[in-house]
Amino acid sequence: MQKAARSWNRRGVRVGFVPTMGYLHAGHLSLVREARRRAGKNGKVVVSIYVNPTQFAPTEDLAKYPRDLKRDLKLCRDTGVDVVFTPNDAEMYPSETGSRRCESADDPRFDKRGYTCVVEEKLSRTMEGAARPTHFRGVTTVVAKLFNLVLPDVAVFGQKDFQQAAIIKRMVADLNFPVKIIIAPTVREADGLAMSSRNKFLDAEQRAQAVILFHSLQAASLAVKAKPVSAARLKADLKEFITAAPLARLDYVEFFDPETLVPFAQVKRGTQMALAVFFGKTRLIDNGRL
Ligand code: PAJ
Repeated sequence: MQKAARSWNRRGVRVGFVPTMGYLHAGHLSLVREARRRAGKNGKVVVSIYVNPTQFAPTEDLAKYPRDLKRDLKLCRDTGVDVVFTPNDAEMYPSETGSRRCESADDPRFDKRGYTCVVEEKLSRTMEGAARPTHFRGVTTVVAKLFNLVLPDVAVFGQKDFQQAAIIKRMVADLNFPVKIIIAPTVREADGLAMSSRNKFLDAEQRAQAVILFHSLQAASLAVKAKPVSAARLKADLKEFITAAPLARLDYVEFFDPETLVPFAQVKRGTQMALAVFFGKTRLIDNGRL
């Protein structure tokens, strides 16, 4: 991968990159199209498909994470991707696998806790980081590694994972990666549910109620349309609102500055909102600018 990328870089061929964990849907493919627009028709578009073990906690769904490489490859081909990069655990984490002679992260000798890509950590403590304390250091580690392998001019991330995108932007600024980061809008199902690989874990009833995340964003937008409202008040109202979906359990709802992620006491038009809701064991997230 790196050899190909170096040769493109030398010849001035622009490289657009979309990192993914596979099981691709229309949201991923919209990022691919954005990468193509940015790379130009003579550029190269690279998609990586790698279910990164270091961003999953031991209690999380690494083994259960959905995979369908054959289907992903066809979708990539049909969307004009030039290269699909599919490394394995031994290739991505040789110091953990090689010397200890285990092939994949499923092996108990693979120690995921040792991996940290050091970036400013204030952005990683709230919301998804509070729920999943080691998640973002796994994300920054693998994305830094992928950037060094794919050597892209631009990389495209989804607004769906707003906090992740903010952290990647900060990493690129702080560690001086020569990569332009583009944040592309969230692609939704017809009823408004944000597309996600995890939606497939929902049963029919949960799926019907999952639109409550999108409806919460709309309700909050409406609530602050005329005048600012206190965050505490709006949180309480939304908690109540979400009880309309009896299978939903609110994990968090936050209102914050889109750059610094610092929470606001007053919510007004233009404030960023994010929420996470459980349906059984499945945790869904969504966010938007009110
Ligand atoms: P994954 O969940 O596969 O998502 C890959 C990219 O697709 C992310 O940038 C994500 O924000 C974007 N995406 C997901 N659903 C979307 C939707 N409905 N609309 C628009 N974009 C969407 O995020 C990861 O993988 C990993 O953490 C990764 C960055 C690859 C590092 O392992």
